[in-house]
Amino acid sequence: MPYSRNYDVLIVGSGGAGLSLALKLAEHSTRIAVLSKFALTAGSTYYAQGGISAVFDADDSIKSHIEDTLNAGAGLCNPDIVRLTVTHGKSSIDWLRKQGVVFTEEQTESGEIKLHLNREGGHSHRRVVHTADATGKAVSLSLIERAQAHANIELLEHYNVVELITAPTPDHAEKRVVGVYVLDSKKQQVTTLAARVVVLATGGASKVYLYSTNPQSATGDGIALAWRAGCRISNMEFMQFHPTCLYHPNARSFLISEAVRGEGGRLILPDGSPFMQHFDPRGELAPRDIVARAIDHEIKKRGIDCVYLDISHKSESFIREHFPTIYRKCLKFGIDITKQPIPVVPAAHYTCGGVLTDSHARTDIANLYAVGEVASTGLHGANRMASNSLLECLVFADRASEDILQKIAFIPPTPKIPDWDESKVSDSDEEVVVSHNWDELRHFMWDYVGIVRTDKRLSRAMSRVELLKKEIAEYYSHFRVTSDLLELRNLVIVAELIIRCAQQRKESRGLHYTLDYPETDNSKPPQNTILTP
Ligand code: FAD
Ligand code: SIN
Repeated sequence: MPYSRNYDVLIVGSGGAGLSLALKLAEHSTRIAVLSKFALTAGSTYYAQGGISAVFDADDSIKSHIEDTLNAGAGLCNPDIVRLTVTHGKSSIDWLRKQGVVFTEEQTESGEIKLHLNREGGHSHRRVVHTADATGKAVSLSLIERAQAHANIELLEHYNVVELITAPTPDHAEKRVVGVYVLDSKKQQVTTLAARVVVLATGGASKVYLYSTNPQSATGDGIALAWRAGCRISNMEFMQFHPTCLYHPNARSFLISEAVRGEGGRLILPDGSPFMQHFDPRGELAPRDIVARAIDHEIKKRGIDCVYLDISHKSESFIREHFPTIYRKCLKFGIDITKQPIPVVPAAHYTCGGVLTDSHARTDIANLYAVGEVASTGLHGANRMASNSLLECLVFADRASEDILQKIAFIPPTPKIPDWDESKVSDSDEEVVVSHNWDELRHFMWDYVGIVRTDKRLSRAMSRVELLKKEIAEYYSHFRVTSDLLELRNLVIVAELIIRCAQQRKESRGLHYTLDYPETDNSKPPQNTILTP
């Protein structure tokens, strides 16, 4: 056999999307592998704070959740996808509870126990189901425990997918995916895994920016893999910047949840004056694009390093009960949030665009699916509303599992796959090229393709991308692959896709704001940006 292992379904990614899908498929005895390029908890899911949006409050409604999502998305959400997702909110939470996730509850005045709901930007109601301020950890650990206990699921850590392998369909009408080449980072060896179905659940690409709330894994690998294999990619100009990342020289990527503003946290300038009401009547709870841009504006106008988020007017017991993780983390850096404001800056947080998928998470390549942050389903439009992402992971895991289970029996076995060829490469003697290019890329993406863009900045960034692409391609063809090199090779493609999408949009909309076209173009229906390889 030319390859070491052969699966029914190979899921690349062990976050909320990948593990939910694996658990749903495993009930039907398919042979599944779930890969993570680092540890199983490496993705963004583990770090999610605020929670998962779903309609539970008696005063809330599906209609209102749909309207809020459409408003935040600035005219670019697909209304059918929004309805599909939102109507599955309650069943998704019920499913998670069955997997063992324990959510925060409260007792009403009449003594009834019910889910406590957070409030976040863009939501007109309390709607966010959560586990204190560490929802992602609770979800991640429960799903991992379930998956580890399941005989049909094999979990492979430190397996970094290098490339998708495709072949013609038996009738030669189209391309189908048949497996992946993967770097086993512990053995430093590339092996081949064959599969009838491959699912990309690789998360987002926010690490393309110098400052990000995301963990190391968020290098857009799935987007680059799909693009190289021939899938269309859409709406990459809509990179979301979270308004409030902790600003401290020793704190790497620590988010201060939007739920802090939901509970009355005020954004203030260094002199203590609030400013959000000058930008939007919803103040601190305006959608993220508006709040992040307002902070960026104040920082640049005043030449200050950061603004502050103040929740200290709430009682100490309230703060410690609702935000135990944030309280402890800030205290570690000498900031007592019960007594003083928190220094914050915006940072890259979420990739609204990605691999173009349909309502069953299918991509342009037969038997290749994309689920979770890697996908562009049409839910988020030009700006994702808070806590709709974990919901999307769960709903589209369900949709993909339905489709896969229906057709897996009819997918022909995988053909013979050529082995990975290392005959023309050697070990690198200049790792510094990789680390230097990583830094350079993330710096110029922050400076030129960040919260506020211009045509000139975008074209400056594109010239640098072209140089880096050449250098990386040359390096890749001469040296054995390493995890860092693979990530850099993917990041430079993601950077190119973001810039190309941004250059095509001659207006400002949602998360894409450019000084050259500061208005939204309402003269024609809003268009998605779709790039074809
Ligand atoms: P991830 O959870 O990011 O998992 C990606 C997986 O893919 C990882 O296992 C990784 O190892 C693997 N992978 C990537 N590339 C490769 C490769 N080449 N080979 C093998 N494996 C690979 N959203 C909400 O809805 N509510 C929140 O409260 C919330 N809070 C957040 C807080 C923070 C700090 C962050 C960073 C994000 C938050 N988000 C929140 C967003 C949300 O957490 C993510 O969008 C979501 O968890 C993505 O899940 P995922 O399964 O698609 O990907
Ligand atoms: C947060 O808790 O602020 C993050 C929520 C999200 O990104 O959806």
